[in-house]
Amino acid sequence: MLPPILQGLRIPVVASPMFIVSGPELVIAQCKAGIVGSFPALNAREKPGEPPLLEAWLTRITEELDRHNQANPDRPAAPFAVNQIVHRSNARLERDIEICHRHKVPIWITSLGARVEVNEAAHDCGGIALHDVINNVFARKAIEKGADGLIAVAAGAGGHAGPQSPFALVQEIREWWDGPLLLSGSIATGRAVLAAQVMGADLAYIGSPFIATEEANAQAEYKQMICDAGAMDIVTSSLFTGVSGNYLAPSIRRAGLDPDRLGAADAETMNFAEDASKAKAWSQIWGAGQGIGAVHDVVPAATRVERLAAEYVSAKAEMARL
Ligand SMILES: Cc1cc2nc3c(=O)[nH]c(=O)nc-3n(C[C@H](O)[C@H](O)[C@H](O)COP(=O)(O)O)c2cc1C
Repeated sequence: MLPPILQGLRIPVVASPMFIVSGPELVIAQCKAGIVGSFPALNAREKPGEPPLLEAWLTRITEELDRHNQANPDRPAAPFAVNQIVHRSNARLERDIEICHRHKVPIWITSLGARVEVNEAAHDCGGIALHDVINNVFARKAIEKGADGLIAVAAGAGGHAGPQSPFALVQEIREWWDGPLLLSGSIATGRAVLAAQVMGADLAYIGSPFIATEEANAQAEYKQMICDAGAMDIVTSSLFTGVSGNYLAPSIRRAGLDPDRLGAADAETMNFAEDASKAKAWSQIWGAGQGIGAVHDVVPAATRVERLAAEYVSAKAEMARL
């Protein structure tokens, strides 16, 4: 049984948080369209001396979704989620937890580290915590530390993808975990959402297709590259953040590097600090998962969800006829 907060979505989809790309416009559009929208807390970066931008974002998202719900009681918005990067270089973590707790964020997504205090803060304000994992060992650790659900990040996902096949990852986790399980990695059609459920996941976790939406905070060239590229254009490298991730080869070429000879970086170099100069240096290197071959145009997020929903319904009908 899914927790009530994850029930009643238009389709079983959580839009994943994406560094730089996901902001309030995209989250509000995703939630209004009926899927969980999310953003990394670190995307809300104020200038020194200014009040925390995260406060303003949370107020705006909550108020706009409340207004939508009052005007549309028959099709209320889906809840939203905030992603916390639980890594030692994230100096803002404690502050951001306090802000999210005070704003009663309903869904907390943690990545790169599982910590009891973060899960406790989520529970204390009535929320749930989902932790993203790339293997079964991390999955067990996350549940031991009090996460309510798991996000299996399989091979082919955008951002910090795992190396494992989604079949292998889901089947190993499902041997012992019957709670909420989300699957991510190259899911870009309604048919693939249904496939994730058939494999044993409850919900699909989708990122890259939402880069090619009007509301995404991404350059027009990045959005167009998502539409033009396919799985063969995705390269895996640890050079840009210190952890293996998937990137668009054309963006690497544009930045003057050879995507076939990138070399590796040390995990110690990973840095989510506010002034990380690397964030600037790599801002033209664009992340994406292998599923983008299914994305051909930049559309409003609501249209992307609409299409996923229509494909999901027709895939279900097709499978029922088997
Ligand atoms: C450009 C980009 C940025 C991302 N940034 C984050 C992030 O800040 N935090 C996080 O937990 N995951 C991040 N991810 C990973 C996503 O949450 C998710 O695992 C992934 O998008 C799923 O695969 P898909 O892109 O193939 O749908 C990012 C993914 C992309 C494509």
